[in-house]
Amino acid sequence: MGKSLRDFKKVVIFTGAGISAESGIPTYRGKGGTWDQYNWEDYACQAAFYRDPEKVWEFHEMRRATVADCEPNEGHCIIAEMEAELPELTVVTQNIDGLHQMAGSKNVLEFHGSLWRARCEKENRIHDISELEMESWKCDCGAWLRPDIVWFGDGMKEDVLGKATKAIRQCDLFIGIGTSGVVYPAASLPSLALENGATMIEINLEQTPASALYEYCARGPASQMLQDLWEAEEILGLNP
Ligand code: OAD
Repeated sequence: MGKSLRDFKKVVIFTGAGISAESGIPTYRGKGGTWDQYNWEDYACQAAFYRDPEKVWEFHEMRRATVADCEPNEGHCIIAEMEAELPELTVVTQNIDGLHQMAGSKNVLEFHGSLWRARCEKENRIHDISELEMESWKCDCGAWLRPDIVWFGDGMKEDVLGKATKAIRQCDLFIGIGTSGVVYPAASLPSLALENGATMIEINLEQTPASALYEYCARGPASQMLQDLWEAEEILGLNP
């Protein structure tokens, strides 16, 4: 008899935009994706912010408004349910939408930051967006605030990177969900789990450049695949 998800002790769930697609939030790549409609060079890098901070803030305001109209979907909820039963479960998400936390997940590492925070680079201080006077986007100290997001070309947040790496190096089960696996360093995380001997499961609508790293691949919408997996008596039922 093979193992079910409940038989694993240390679990890492690694998510990308595909987990939030069923909530109505566009993914980044592919037709209709955010980077299909907008040049990231104009909106998601420090150089763009230096050139035109207001334009960059307006773009992020628009994205926040989209997310504010959306709710966590069944996939986010199943992950939160899993955490309640498997206490050593860590969610490492590339998403900046906050939907895992809204669904009830507690142990969430936001690898690329959050749409819901702003940062003063001068004071090295983080502000909650809800506490800010909108449309000024300036800190009390007078400096421009910037979204607390890891943009293209930015360094990673060392503490988040350290915690994610530690959890992944210790995990015995790694589930990658809804990520194209093309943005580094996030894309290198599955291979850390593999090196550690973790059981590897990929959930995605389609094959990705990382698929070869996974022992089991569940092809279909994240919510359905997660539900099947969570209910399965043994994960060996998945298509390898
Ligand atoms: P992508 O848009 O690159 O990839 C989304 C993945 O989700 C694709 O592989 C799809 O096949 C899959 N997918 C879509 N809908 C799905 C569904 N319902 N169920 C399962 N899978 C589904 O998004 P990411 O890999 O997250 O950076 O992109 C990585 C980073 O690139 C993002 O974090 C973002 C972006 O630039 C920042 O925001 C800083």
